Amino acid sequence: MKKFYIETFGCQMNVHDSEKVVGTLLARGYEQVPAPEQADLVFYNTCSIRDKAEQKVFSRLQDFRKNSKGKTFAVLGCVAQQEGERIFERAPHVSLVCGSASYNQLPRLLVQIENGDKRVTGLSLDTEETFETPLTRRDNPHRAYITIIEGCDKSCSYCVVPFTRGPERSRTTGGILAESRQLAGAGYTEIQLLGQNVNSYRDPSDDQIDFARLLRKVAEVPGLKRVRFTTSHPRDFTRDIVDAIGENPVLCNHVHLPVQSGSTSVLASMQRLYTRGEYMERIEWMKNARRDIAISTDIIVGFPGETEQDFEQTLTLLDQVEYDSIFSFKYSPRPNTPALQYADQIPGEEKSRRLTILQEKQRSIQMRRNAAFIGRIEEVMVEGCNKATSQWIGRTSQNKTLNFTAPQRASESLIGQYLPVRVLRAGPNSLVGESFN
Ligand code: SAH
Ligand code: SF4
Ligand code: F3S
Repeated sequence: MKKFYIETFGCQMNVHDSEKVVGTLLARGYEQVPAPEQADLVFYNTCSIRDKAEQKVFSRLQDFRKNSKGKTFAVLGCVAQQEGERIFERAPHVSLVCGSASYNQLPRLLVQIENGDKRVTGLSLDTEETFETPLTRRDNPHRAYITIIEGCDKSCSYCVVPFTRGPERSRTTGGILAESRQLAGAGYTEIQLLGQNVNSYRDPSDDQIDFARLLRKVAEVPGLKRVRFTTSHPRDFTRDIVDAIGENPVLCNHVHLPVQSGSTSVLASMQRLYTRGEYMERIEWMKNARRDIAISTDIIVGFPGETEQDFEQTLTLLDQVEYDSIFSFKYSPRPNTPALQYADQIPGEEKSRRLTILQEKQRSIQMRRNAAFIGRIEEVMVEGCNKATSQWIGRTSQNKTLNFTAPQRASESLIGQYLPVRVLRAGPNSLVGESFN
């Protein structure tokens, strides 16, 4: 039996794509192994969002340059789409290069590889149906990802995603609901709806169902306790979404709304299609909602032309919004993107300085926000167990990590259960508590 190894980089979309690829391989009789050394076929599902991410796959491939005998190497995902056949030049021992928009071609490409072909590619960015993948092999038995929209039709001036994942294609609401019901039937209680811009979801069938209505429908699927979604684009984020969350406790009270910068002029040169004021309007909808909605974001520092004043605006935005968490990055120039050609690129040292200042500020905001949870009782879904600290690892609806102790009950696993936990302590990145029943 042929053995394969797969390593995944990048976002949840990639993680879920790998689950689809693993399902396809298992159905073809391959066996998954935990280390590349044991494998005949080595897959890297890659990310090219920043230069560092892209370099990872080439350094992995470099490890095997001299010792690749008997192995077949395959590069999937965003670096595959971006670099295409150039990958064969950079890493001659690679045999298969396939982007995410062509995964429906994978079975055919695998046959070619099995027949001894040395170089095969799936690089078309056509919009054929790629959603209905009944072979998906999910890693987690309780929480499942579901793709609702592929690709991205925005053109943020720094971003490779429109090139690596192609134009937007929404999946039918019928298909999404059928998969949700099937997953609930199989015991999944949490579903995460995925897309680069879920807010621009529109049912391609006659119903024209939009994202807020889709959310309400998925939340009604019997058996589901939590529904999350990512990622939202502020331009397409509507008040209906906030209303839906306010009305239905199955919809998690957490929204990830990437802002990128607090400066309207930087937002304009990023081509984000909203001003700081328009972004804040959306934040106000959430702050005034019926439920306490946790808000997180993505921020890029050191975008070309970002002045000290622009950066200050991002800092004041952090104070104004008081995010529950942020992902922050130094701007990384990317191939094919307009910002690559922009004047006033910011030196690396300056980007690092700004990133540190930003992260320190956010750390103190998170300390303060999390401290407000001390004494509260929060429901967690138990995700794991930390043997070293004898604590269970839980997650709240707001997506906060809550580590907790539970009364000893002989070797019972709590993983997958929903429990009330009293919060006793708080740090910047997590809460600590105890379960009392
Ligand atoms: N579709 C999502 C997320 C895309 S990628 C969205 O629009 O929000 C995730 C994050 O990576 C982005 O939100 C952005 O903050 C960051 N990112 C994208 N391109 C980048 C680049 N060239 N340099 C640094 N960070 C980048
Ligand atoms: Fe990239 Fe912008 Fe699309 Fe997000 S919305 S994937 S940042 S182009
Ligand atoms: Fe990376 Fe592609 Fe996702 S570039 S962040 S893996 S869409």
